[in-house]
Amino acid sequence: MDFRFDVTQVLRKRISVFTADSLPRHPALLERVMEIIDELGVASAKAQGLRGPVTTSTKLCASPTHRVYLMKHEAPIDPPPPLPDPALEYEGMSDAPPRMMRRKRPLVIGMIKVGIKNLFLVDEYGRQLQISPLCVLDFYIHEDYQRKGCGRELFDYMLTIEMQRPGHLAYDRPSPKLLGFLRKHFGLVDCYID
Ligand code: ACO
Repeated sequence: MDFRFDVTQVLRKRISVFTADSLPRHPALLERVMEIIDELGVASAKAQGLRGPVTTSTKLCASPTHRVYLMKHEAPIDPPPPLPDPALEYEGMSDAPPRMMRRKRPLVIGMIKVGIKNLFLVDEYGRQLQISPLCVLDFYIHEDYQRKGCGRELFDYMLTIEMQRPGHLAYDRPSPKLLGFLRKHFGLVDCYID
Protein backbone atom coordinates (compact mmCIF):
# COMPACT_ATOMS: atom_id res chain seq x y z
CA MET A 1 0.00 0.00 0.00
CA ASP A 2 1.62 3.21 -1.24
CA PHE A 3 1.20 6.67 0.28
CA ARG A 4 2.03 10.13 -1.02
CA PHE A 5 4.57 10.48 1.80
CA ASP A 6 7.46 8.40 3.12
CA VAL A 7 5.85 6.04 5.65
CA THR A 8 9.16 5.52 7.49
CA GLN A 9 8.68 9.01 8.95
CA VAL A 10 5.91 7.63 11.12
CA LEU A 11 6.53 3.86 11.01
CA ARG A 12 10.12 3.47 12.14
CA LYS A 13 10.04 -0.25 12.93
CA ARG A 14 8.65 -3.15 10.86
CA ILE A 15 5.70 -3.22 13.28
CA SER A 16 4.54 -0.08 15.09
CA VAL A 17 1.83 0.11 17.76
CA PHE A 18 -0.56 3.02 18.20
CA THR A 19 -3.12 3.81 20.88
CA ALA A 20 -5.19 6.95 21.31
CA ASP A 21 -2.51 8.19 23.72
CA SER A 22 0.53 7.29 21.65
CA LEU A 23 -0.47 8.94 18.38
CA PRO A 24 2.04 11.59 17.24
CA ARG A 25 1.43 15.06 18.63
CA HIS A 26 2.90 16.89 15.66
CA PRO A 27 -0.09 17.70 13.39
CA ALA A 28 1.64 16.69 10.13
CA LEU A 29 2.77 13.32 11.54
CA LEU A 30 -0.60 12.73 13.19
CA GLU A 31 -2.32 13.33 9.85
CA ARG A 32 -0.08 10.71 8.21
CA VAL A 33 -0.67 8.03 10.82
CA MET A 34 -4.41 8.69 10.64
CA GLU A 35 -4.34 8.40 6.86
CA ILE A 36 -2.54 5.03 7.07
CA ILE A 37 -4.99 3.68 9.67
CA ASP A 38 -8.01 4.88 7.70
CA GLU A 39 -6.79 3.37 4.42
CA LEU A 40 -6.03 0.02 6.06
CA GLY A 41 -9.45 0.06 7.72
CA VAL A 42 -11.16 0.60 4.37
CA ALA A 43 -9.06 -2.12 2.67
CA SER A 44 -9.83 -4.58 5.48
CA ALA A 45 -13.57 -3.88 5.27
CA LYS A 46 -13.44 -4.37 1.50
CA ALA A 47 -11.55 -7.67 1.90
CA GLN A 48 -14.19 -8.91 4.36
CA GLY A 49 -17.17 -7.61 2.36
CA LEU A 50 -18.25 -5.27 5.18
CA ARG A 51 -20.31 -2.16 4.57
CA GLY A 52 -18.04 0.09 6.60
CA PRO A 53 -14.60 -0.05 8.22
CA VAL A 54 -14.17 -1.54 11.69
CA THR A 55 -10.94 0.40 12.05
CA THR A 56 -10.77 4.18 11.69
CA SER A 57 -8.48 6.75 13.29
CA THR A 58 -11.54 8.43 14.81
CA LYS A 59 -12.62 5.19 16.53
CA LEU A 60 -9.06 4.64 17.79
CA CYS A 61 -9.00 8.13 19.33
CA ALA A 62 -12.32 7.41 21.08
CA SER A 63 -11.40 3.92 22.38
CA PRO A 64 -8.86 3.95 25.23
CA THR A 65 -8.38 0.13 25.28
CA HIS A 66 -7.77 -0.22 21.54
CA ARG A 67 -4.33 -0.80 20.07
CA VAL A 68 -3.55 -0.86 16.36
CA TYR A 69 -0.42 -2.65 15.13
CA LEU A 70 0.78 -1.48 11.70
CA MET A 71 3.17 -3.53 9.60
CA LYS A 72 5.44 -2.19 6.88
CA HIS A 73 7.61 -3.89 4.32
CA GLU A 74 10.66 -2.50 2.56
CA ALA A 75 10.24 -3.72 -1.01
CA PRO A 76 13.47 -3.67 -3.06
CA ILE A 77 13.28 -1.32 -6.06
CA ASP A 78 16.54 -2.22 -7.83
CA PRO A 79 17.11 -5.64 -9.35
CA PRO A 80 19.59 -7.86 -7.49
CA PRO A 81 23.23 -7.08 -8.44
CA PRO A 82 24.88 -9.46 -10.93
CA LEU A 83 26.83 -12.27 -9.34
CA PRO A 84 30.58 -11.64 -9.71
CA ASP A 85 32.64 -14.10 -11.73
CA PRO A 86 34.25 -16.27 -9.02
CA ALA A 87 37.45 -16.71 -11.03
CA LEU A 88 37.95 -12.96 -11.49
CA GLU A 89 37.06 -12.24 -7.93
CA TYR A 90 39.64 -14.75 -6.73
CA GLU A 91 42.34 -12.79 -8.51
CA GLY A 92 40.97 -9.52 -7.17
CA MET A 93 40.05 -8.37 -10.69
CA SER A 94 36.26 -8.36 -10.52
CA ASP A 95 34.59 -5.27 -12.05
CA ALA A 96 31.45 -5.85 -10.02
CA PRO A 97 31.31 -3.72 -6.88
CA PRO A 98 31.83 -5.98 -3.86
CA ARG A 99 28.53 -4.95 -2.30
CA MET A 100 25.78 -2.95 -4.01
CA MET A 101 23.30 -1.17 -1.79
CA ARG A 102 19.74 -1.68 -3.06
CA ARG A 103 17.14 1.05 -2.82
CA LYS A 104 13.96 0.09 -1.02
CA ARG A 105 10.39 1.30 -1.21
CA PRO A 106 8.61 1.20 2.15
CA LEU A 107 5.04 -0.06 1.90
CA VAL A 108 2.37 -0.55 4.53
CA ILE A 109 1.17 -4.16 4.27
CA GLY A 110 -1.07 -4.90 7.21
CA MET A 111 -2.63 -4.20 10.56
CA ILE A 112 -4.24 -5.88 13.52
CA LYS A 113 -6.47 -4.11 16.03
CA VAL A 114 -7.15 -5.44 19.54
CA GLY A 115 -9.14 -4.09 22.44
CA ILE A 116 -11.20 -5.08 25.46
CA LYS A 117 -14.73 -6.16 24.62
CA ASN A 118 -17.60 -6.99 26.96
CA LEU A 119 -19.14 -10.32 26.02
CA PHE A 120 -22.21 -12.01 27.46
CA LEU A 121 -22.05 -15.81 27.47
CA VAL A 122 -24.50 -18.42 28.64
CA ASP A 123 -22.94 -21.37 30.48
CA GLU A 124 -24.11 -25.00 30.39
CA TYR A 125 -26.59 -24.28 33.24
CA GLY A 126 -28.16 -21.36 31.38
CA ARG A 127 -26.52 -18.73 33.58
CA GLN A 128 -25.46 -15.53 31.87
CA LEU A 129 -21.84 -14.55 32.39
CA GLN A 130 -20.16 -11.32 31.49
CA ILE A 131 -16.51 -11.48 30.53
CA SER A 132 -14.20 -8.76 29.23
CA PRO A 133 -11.45 -10.47 27.26
CA LEU A 134 -8.90 -8.93 24.95
CA CYS A 135 -10.46 -9.27 21.53
CA VAL A 136 -9.07 -9.30 18.00
CA LEU A 137 -11.30 -6.68 16.40
CA ASP A 138 -9.76 -6.37 12.93
CA PHE A 139 -6.91 -8.06 11.07
CA TYR A 140 -5.75 -7.46 7.53
CA ILE A 141 -2.77 -8.24 5.31
CA HIS A 142 -2.58 -6.68 1.85
CA GLU A 143 -3.65 -9.14 -0.87
CA ASP A 144 -0.14 -9.17 -2.45
CA TYR A 145 1.35 -10.39 0.84
CA GLN A 146 -1.26 -12.87 2.05
CA ARG A 147 -0.29 -16.52 2.60
CA LYS A 148 3.40 -15.63 2.96
CA GLY A 149 3.62 -15.70 6.73
CA CYS A 150 3.16 -11.94 7.26
CA GLY A 151 -0.12 -12.45 9.15
CA ARG A 152 1.58 -14.92 11.48
CA GLU A 153 4.49 -12.54 12.06
CA LEU A 154 2.15 -9.66 12.92
CA PHE A 155 -0.07 -11.86 15.09
CA ASP A 156 2.95 -13.26 17.00
CA TYR A 157 4.27 -9.76 17.62
CA MET A 158 0.88 -8.69 18.97
CA LEU A 159 0.77 -11.77 21.25
CA THR A 160 4.20 -10.92 22.66
CA ILE A 161 3.36 -7.28 23.37
CA GLU A 162 -0.06 -8.14 24.81
CA MET A 163 1.40 -11.15 26.74
CA GLN A 164 -1.44 -13.32 25.47
CA ARG A 165 -2.01 -16.78 24.03
CA PRO A 166 -4.20 -17.27 20.94
CA GLY A 167 -6.67 -19.46 22.83
CA HIS A 168 -7.19 -16.80 25.50
CA LEU A 169 -8.24 -14.10 23.05
CA ALA A 170 -11.74 -13.49 21.72
CA TYR A 171 -12.32 -12.95 17.99
CA ASP A 172 -14.95 -10.51 16.86
CA ARG A 173 -16.92 -11.87 13.87
CA PRO A 174 -14.01 -13.96 12.53
CA SER A 175 -13.91 -14.23 8.75
CA PRO A 176 -13.41 -17.62 7.03
CA LYS A 177 -9.78 -16.63 6.34
CA LEU A 178 -9.17 -15.84 10.00
CA LEU A 179 -10.76 -19.13 11.05
CA GLY A 180 -8.44 -20.93 8.59
CA PHE A 181 -5.48 -18.96 9.94
CA LEU A 182 -6.29 -19.87 13.57
CA ARG A 183 -6.84 -23.52 12.70
CA LYS A 184 -3.63 -23.79 10.70
CA HIS A 185 -1.24 -21.95 13.02
CA PHE A 186 -2.68 -22.65 16.45
CA GLY A 187 -5.02 -25.61 16.05
CA LEU A 188 -7.95 -23.48 17.24
CA VAL A 189 -11.28 -24.76 15.99
CA ASP A 190 -13.70 -23.18 18.46
CA CYS A 191 -13.72 -19.53 19.42
CA TYR A 192 -16.09 -17.05 21.02
CA ILE A 193 -18.12 -15.46 18.29
CA ASP A 194 -19.89 -12.21 19.04
N1 ACO B 1 -8.39 -18.48 2.03
C1 ACO B 1 -8.40 -19.30 3.08
N2 ACO B 1 -7.51 -19.24 4.10
C2 ACO B 1 -6.59 -18.28 4.04
C3 ACO B 1 -6.52 -17.36 2.97
C4 ACO B 1 -7.47 -17.50 1.93
N3 ACO B 1 -7.47 -16.69 0.86
N4 ACO B 1 -5.50 -16.51 3.20
C5 ACO B 1 -4.92 -16.89 4.37
N5 ACO B 1 -5.60 -17.95 4.89
C6 ACO B 1 -5.27 -18.70 6.12
C7 ACO B 1 -4.89 -20.13 5.73
O1 ACO B 1 -5.00 -20.94 6.86
C8 ACO B 1 -3.43 -19.93 5.36
O2 ACO B 1 -2.69 -21.14 5.34
P1 ACO B 1 -2.50 -21.90 3.91
O3 ACO B 1 -1.96 -20.89 2.95
O4 ACO B 1 -1.54 -23.01 4.23
O5 ACO B 1 -3.87 -22.38 3.53
C9 ACO B 1 -2.96 -19.03 6.45
O6 ACO B 1 -4.07 -18.15 6.73
C10 ACO B 1 -1.74 -18.23 6.01
O7 ACO B 1 -1.11 -17.68 7.13
P2 ACO B 1 -0.31 -16.32 6.96
O8 ACO B 1 0.41 -16.28 5.65
O9 ACO B 1 0.51 -16.12 8.20
O10 ACO B 1 -1.53 -15.29 7.00
P3 ACO B 1 -1.84 -14.05 6.02
O11 ACO B 1 -0.63 -13.21 5.85
O12 ACO B 1 -2.52 -14.55 4.79
O13 ACO B 1 -2.90 -13.23 6.91
C11 ACO B 1 -5.26 -12.82 7.20
C12 ACO B 1 -4.09 -13.83 7.36
C13 ACO B 1 -4.94 -11.57 8.01
C14 ACO B 1 -6.54 -13.47 7.73
C15 ACO B 1 -5.37 -12.46 5.70
O14 ACO B 1 -5.71 -13.60 4.98
C16 ACO B 1 -6.37 -11.35 5.39
O15 ACO B 1 -6.07 -10.17 5.47
N6 ACO B 1 -7.62 -11.74 4.99
C17 ACO B 1 -8.62 -10.77 4.55
C18 ACO B 1 -9.18 -9.98 5.72
C19 ACO B 1 -9.75 -10.87 6.79
O16 ACO B 1 -10.52 -11.79 6.54
N7 ACO B 1 -9.37 -10.55 8.06
C20 ACO B 1 -9.88 -11.18 9.27
C21 ACO B 1 -11.08 -10.39 9.71
S1 ACO B 1 -11.95 -11.05 11.09
C22 ACO B 1 -11.26 -10.29 12.45
O17 ACO B 1 -10.32 -9.55 12.34
C23 ACO B 1 -11.79 -10.59 13.85
